[in-house]
Amino acid sequence: SRIQHAPTPTLGFASLPAAMTDACVVPPGYRATVLGAWGTPLSGQAAPWRSDGGNSSSDLLHTTGMHHDGMHYFPLAGSSREGLLVVNHEYIDEAALHPDGPTLVDGRRPAEEVRKEINAHGVSVMHIRSTQPDGRWDVVLNSPYNRRFTSATTMTLSGPVAGSRWVRTPFAPDGKAVRGTNNNCGNGTTPWGTYLSAEENWAMCFVNRGEQPLHQARVGVAAQAGRYQWETAAGDASEVAGEFARFDVSERGTDALSDWRNEVNGFGYLVEIDPYDPASRAVKRTAMGRFAHEAAACGKPVAGEPLAFYSGDDARFEYVYRYVSDALWDPRDAKPADGNHLAVGHKYLDHGTLYVARFDADGSGEWLALTPPTRTQDGRTLGEVFGDLAAILIHTRAAADLLGATPMDRPEWTAVHPQNGDVYLTLTNNNQRTETNAANPRANNVSGHIVRWHDEPGSHRFVWDVFVFGSPAEAEAATNRSALTAANQFASPDGIAFDERGILWIQTDNGIDDGRNNAVAKAINDQMLAVVPQALSARTERRIDPALPAINSANQADLRRFFIAPNEAEITGFAYTPDHCTLFLNIQHPANWPASGTTDATVASAQAVRPRSATVAIQKHDGTPVGV
Ligand code: FEO
Ligand code: CA
Ligand code: CA
Ligand code: CA
Repeated sequence: SRIQHAPTPTLGFASLPAAMTDACVVPPGYRATVLGAWGTPLSGQAAPWRSDGGNSSSDLLHTTGMHHDGMHYFPLAGSSREGLLVVNHEYIDEAALHPDGPTLVDGRRPAEEVRKEINAHGVSVMHIRSTQPDGRWDVVLNSPYNRRFTSATTMTLSGPVAGSRWVRTPFAPDGKAVRGTNNNCGNGTTPWGTYLSAEENWAMCFVNRGEQPLHQARVGVAAQAGRYQWETAAGDASEVAGEFARFDVSERGTDALSDWRNEVNGFGYLVEIDPYDPASRAVKRTAMGRFAHEAAACGKPVAGEPLAFYSGDDARFEYVYRYVSDALWDPRDAKPADGNHLAVGHKYLDHGTLYVARFDADGSGEWLALTPPTRTQDGRTLGEVFGDLAAILIHTRAAADLLGATPMDRPEWTAVHPQNGDVYLTLTNNNQRTETNAANPRANNVSGHIVRWHDEPGSHRFVWDVFVFGSPAEAEAATNRSALTAANQFASPDGIAFDERGILWIQTDNGIDDGRNNAVAKAINDQMLAVVPQALSARTERRIDPALPAINSANQADLRRFFIAPNEAEITGFAYTPDHCTLFLNIQHPANWPASGTTDATVASAQAVRPRSATVAIQKHDGTPVGV
């Protein structure tokens, strides 16, 4: 057996009672400190953050962006006191970003506002250090490691789609580069020490008012106007090389210089970043599929076997995917001798097979390969339908449709148990489900649930069960199938991650798509819970009959509430120092937080403030490991 036996941790805090305040709530003995809020200068080139929204687009190039999401702590020299915190900036709150919200003048967005919005998106690399006597963290201003990637930063396209006819643009006639990364939601990491940033809701930033080809329509390219109407700034006297025009991907005749149709095909990928090399370019790994990537989790690496990466496609009735590398894992690649982490990324992430999941009612499942020879349900091959591998990847969703993949209740993050390799997937909610299936067994699933499976990268098969159903505590047993109580009722699970000790952390996001309209969200703000799960393989009985109530008890009975967010905010992103003494999470889209004049995240502001998404560092007052 590959399962290693590590000591099982014990949670060392009592479940928090419900709270709905404009402050973070942590258990007794803990503190929570604001770190790197939107607009925090990374270099002296940025003016300090202004509470009137008056910072410029150029300031935003040198500060943290908005709406923090996935993240990871990369230690410097193994340190738990100094490292690189890489943080995604998923989207923007235009009302908070500008002094008086976004403007439209004669139907056009001003170029400076659009540039500011573009620069508020992307990814930050923040050099952080804990040098205060009490262990508090600060951003190291002007560190050469500090970096911003925005929705305009030049990135490399790599893998099967790179160089293909799908991605040749006036900016990159060879199809090997693209400007920007967009709507970076969750993240992943690789065994060689790089960061994967997931492009999620990028499609709606592009518009095509004409007839959309399948690869645009199936991902939700806007039909009337882009989400922020960036395309309306096209033609501004200051526009550089289609800087804004590229967001309109309509058919525009034969003029090659104005043909931006392919621009949207440069988005929808997992983006690999080497935080340790400030001179490196980010690389979009197209072999891992093109869809609304929520995040990415690497399966437990095993020497001599392929690597597997899991990624959910977060939209109602979309699928969950697995990428398996052609190359077999060589543990020496964890620390490449030449320091070239992105060359290792090329080895494992540019050549491999993408699969989509079918969950069967008997508790097993199959990974269906998105490759040219694979037969569709009507007997053709994907190659016959779409063409070569690049074409299939561009059409990832449409190809998965033809294979009988299981439509899920909004697949969000995945997490891999560090010892036994079980994979956990959050299914946040789906208030439009009427027809159920074994893995999504509740109609009008407003509370969401967590599915888990176990597979081997060399096999197409897996076994699965439902780990826990979200629910209000007072709901009837047919809904509250995991018998949640007031101490651990939750809804809309989203972020999910294991720490190295085997504690599973579950974060909720009731904030969009009318998500707050459920009984849990009306009783408690978004929250982070913790549990120490038993292995899927350790289950004596796998009860997956959707008619059954509580599917088990041992796994969820000790699910505890560890943290509560300020009003209207979701909790997302999870990182920790190697010694587990600091745990980082992100507060996204708060209503009136953080309070000004303090870094204490648990203080509610007495007056109205311009809200700022931020990282929160959670530590014990006595400096010992968090959670136990
Ligand atoms: Fe960006 Fe699916 O959350
Ligand atoms: Ca999310
Ligand atoms: Ca969200
Ligand atoms: Ca979400």
